[in-house]
Amino acid sequence: MQADIPVVTIDGPSGTGKGTLCSRISRWLDWNLLDSGALYRILALLAQQQQVPVADAAGVAALARDLNVRFMAADDEPVKVILDGKDVGSRIRQEDCGNAASSLAEHGIVRAAILGWQRSFQQPPGLVADGRDMGTVVFPGAGLKVFLTANPQVRAKRRYKQLNVKGINVKFADLVGSIAERDKRDKQRIHSPLKPADGAVVVDTSDSGIDDVFTQVAAIIEKRFDLSAIRS
Ligand code: DC
Repeated sequence: MQADIPVVTIDGPSGTGKGTLCSRISRWLDWNLLDSGALYRILALLAQQQQVPVADAAGVAALARDLNVRFMAADDEPVKVILDGKDVGSRIRQEDCGNAASSLAEHGIVRAAILGWQRSFQQPPGLVADGRDMGTVVFPGAGLKVFLTANPQVRAKRRYKQLNVKGINVKFADLVGSIAERDKRDKQRIHSPLKPADGAVVVDTSDSGIDDVFTQVAAIIEKRFDLSAIRS
């Protein structure tokens, strides 16, 4: 990790507003953005297209080689995800990709295959990294680590709304069940489980809108980093 390029990590389960917050912060600071969940989701999509079972750790890890992916922050939207020149953002954010991503993310060999690639996003002037293990494993030396939480009902409602807006129909009860299952898998896995990093600032977003959360986290960033020197 290059100590001179600042990193903010934002970890937490889905439905806490992580994606939108990271997108906003990266645009505000004009820093690079890493949506690590999208990487796992892309692997899920490729595995499906190439008929590699998610349980086949070596097969999935092989898909991680030669990935050609870019992220673009978009206004109040989760980031655009460009795979081989095509925007696959909507496709990979469907529940089937999320669940498959959570399953294949259990394999240590898959996580190891994309570790260096994730770290390569640490480029000047800085990086905002969104995920589950950004502060604990991928960028342990980050200057600021944030962990977002929110109660499960609120998270399920947010996710339901997001999917509805995109015209993706799911039953609310099914969504509550799949979120609970995914949380359990992400928290209990052996490799890089979902948990707050040591020293992380924990922000509960249950009762706050994105504007409040952004204001709160932006204030912490302004205190923690010398932005006059690094934003120039
Ligand atoms: O953040 P997301 O919902 O797009 O992530 C999808 C899945 O990918 C998540 O359930 C677990 C996995 N993931 C991970 O294991 N580590 C990360 N840093 C990001 C996501």
